[in-house]
Amino acid sequence: MSKTFFIETWGCQMNDLDSQRLSGGLKLRGWSRVDDERQASLILLNTCSIREKAESKVFSRLGQLRELKAERQLQIGVCGCVAQQEGERILNRAPWVDFVMGPGNVGYLDDVLSGGRTIAIDFPEDRRYDYLTVDRPSVTKAQVTIIEGCNKNCTFCIVPTTRGREVSRTFDDVLAEVRAAVDSGRVEIELLGQTVNAYRCPMSGRDFGALLSAVAEIEGVRRLRFMTSHPAEVNESMIAAMRDHSNISRYLHLPVQSGSSKVLRRMKRLYTREKYLETIQRIREAIPEIHFSTDIIVGFPGETEDDFQQSLSLIEEIRYGSLFAFKYSPRPGTPALKIGLPVDEPIATERLTRLFALHERIKRERLESYRGKVLPVLVEGPSKHDPAMLSGRTDDNWVVNFTGHPATPLGSMLGVRIDDALHHTLRGEAVA
Ligand code: SAH
Ligand code: F3S
Repeated sequence: MSKTFFIETWGCQMNDLDSQRLSGGLKLRGWSRVDDERQASLILLNTCSIREKAESKVFSRLGQLRELKAERQLQIGVCGCVAQQEGERILNRAPWVDFVMGPGNVGYLDDVLSGGRTIAIDFPEDRRYDYLTVDRPSVTKAQVTIIEGCNKNCTFCIVPTTRGREVSRTFDDVLAEVRAAVDSGRVEIELLGQTVNAYRCPMSGRDFGALLSAVAEIEGVRRLRFMTSHPAEVNESMIAAMRDHSNISRYLHLPVQSGSSKVLRRMKRLYTREKYLETIQRIREAIPEIHFSTDIIVGFPGETEDDFQQSLSLIEEIRYGSLFAFKYSPRPGTPALKIGLPVDEPIATERLTRLFALHERIKRERLESYRGKVLPVLVEGPSKHDPAMLSGRTDDNWVVNFTGHPATPLGSMLGVRIDDALHHTLRGEAVA
């Protein structure tokens, strides 16, 4: 049978990038990628275990794949964080799976493909990151991992278990990857890490701010983004790098998780509400036009109505552009399981609804405020809904579909006058 593969990806940017690495590695070995799983002789599920819902989806998908496998020759691999967390239990529960491979082993595809290993869930010293074979889906943008794993121990979070301890790549290695991406036409670079701003070059000790500056100064980098920053790791060097380089996005994702210092302490987030606000203030003083986005958890064990009100008031105060909110989901082996009383499900659901309603209003006001303004937009390709229009993103990551200048090369920065603010996107006309 021909060597064809299908990859399904859930979860965060790091998982996206792992899929790009897996895909590139397979292509290098003579495999070709297909969009229809029925055409594939290898199916990879790159899974997420951040919340229970994501995790249970994997087993229902595996149930479907069992039927496919009954019909023909097929290899099935479970990758990502569920693989890491469940290991051998996946093979026990779904014996039709051929191998289980955690995030630490993305560089070791051959071991599992050959049947040499059915369970690869260690974190090898040498992670074998071959950036030249990454199969990047975008022609304008490249994601670049700078640090893997997380050394924080937020009491709700499974990531330190599934992605291991922090390992930073060297300065030179990161810069070489960015240069290669720019040489291949990518003008937007996104640096990735679970705690991206904890980066430290293992050779020279240079910090995240130094790396940001060095990447921003590479000729051809038009827009530089990064995620996810931890509020307690924001320092002067990071702020100065952002202030001094106009190609670094004026948009910062800074997950707060809760507006209540009491809850933050139980989450072990390493900052208080006041400290977080002070950090925002310091960044705003240096870069007045900056916008923020955040992650929030509602219904963390012991969260009272008063704690929740503090999350609402914080959102109101900071006026986040984008906000990702989640109901607390108990994760196996995490300390939060033993902290405080669980919040009743209907109460958590109701809080989430109120929080979204508040943010919807703030988001609406923000989008409406763009009407009539000319915003710089990085052109990414034709619009998904109307091929006669082009599509791109603003510096604060809103999608803009626009008319005018149809022959603009992808990756250009254009001024677009915003005429309309739809539910999630903006619409306008290129003016220059
Ligand atoms: N490294 C990032 C993000 C980690 S996971 C950080 O420092 O914040 C992405 C988001 O999922 C988190 O920010 C958090 O809001 C949410 N999340 C993580 N664990 C969760 C859990 N057990 N229940 C609900 N949401 C969770
Ligand atoms: Fe998770 Fe906290 Fe790290 S949210 S990824 S343990 S900073």
